Amino acid sequence: MQPNLRTEIAGLRLRNPTMLSAGILGMTGRSLRAVWDTGAGAVVTKSLGLNPRKGYPNPSVVDVGCGFLNAMGLPNPGVREFLDELKTAHSDQVTVIGSIYGGSPEEFAETADVLRKSVDAIELNVSCPHVKEVGVEIGQNPELVETVVSRVRKAITLPLFVKLSPNVTSITKLAQAAERGGADAVVAINTLRAMAIDIETCRPVLGNKVGGLSGPAIKPVALRCVYEISQTVKIPVIGCGGISDWKDAVEFLLAGARAVQIGTAVAYHDLSVFKEVTSGLERYLLRKGYAGIGEIVGLSH
Ligand code: DHB
Repeated sequence: MQPNLRTEIAGLRLRNPTMLSAGILGMTGRSLRAVWDTGAGAVVTKSLGLNPRKGYPNPSVVDVGCGFLNAMGLPNPGVREFLDELKTAHSDQVTVIGSIYGGSPEEFAETADVLRKSVDAIELNVSCPHVKEVGVEIGQNPELVETVVSRVRKAITLPLFVKLSPNVTSITKLAQAAERGGADAVVAINTLRAMAIDIETCRPVLGNKVGGLSGPAIKPVALRCVYEISQTVKIPVIGCGGISDWKDAVEFLLAGARAVQIGTAVAYHDLSVFKEVTSGLERYLLRKGYAGIGEIVGLSH
């Protein structure tokens, strides 16, 4: 019998456990739709704020060999403007998660409220590593995380995810804060603060000097975070960080993730990664005699 790839997170039913992560191909309705069509179980938008943001000057992305370093500066047209894109992306068949950021609990709540009818779940980005006042200053502070989450919780009934930063002393404390605030799941992890320097110009490469590192380099860090968080909180964990093939996805499920997000691998290779992961997962479950992915979630503990 064919193994069951379906999974469920806080009532959000997914056809398979893969998702497009925030920040990659999530800027238009058409690109979100294209990723869905290649087999992703859900797609996450680029992080949206209440007002438009231009972002940082270029260069904003650099390939550092072991992954990508990026500092885009949260460019986006503003949540209201983006609703038109969601008309193209979202339907009963297509599962879309809206990623949002904000400068205060009220701003987060208002942004979530604007998106409410156009997405299937909300993911709070409290972990952008380099944009002042809307990023990791929130995500490094458990009290603030709890306040933001509980404020958004009051504003919407949709499944609510919180994307956590690895740039902290104890990520489990932040996961517990998200859980106390009423989050339905946590996403672990966002990018690691990092930089690159051009040895000819003797200057930092990125326009913003410091950015966030993603891709294969951060996979073991992300896996450790998922492992620790899933031992600490009761809400589901969604793994994110350097997942490039089905074996990586299996590792994250074994560590305790109920779904995985894929971003850098899409940019590094192409959109075939979703099919590669889901068919590899299916073969793995069949070979091991498991009926569904639920049977391997957290099995390494
Ligand atoms: C950006 C946002 C993030 O959350 C992140 O991890 C990296 C970059 C950005 O838009 O610059």
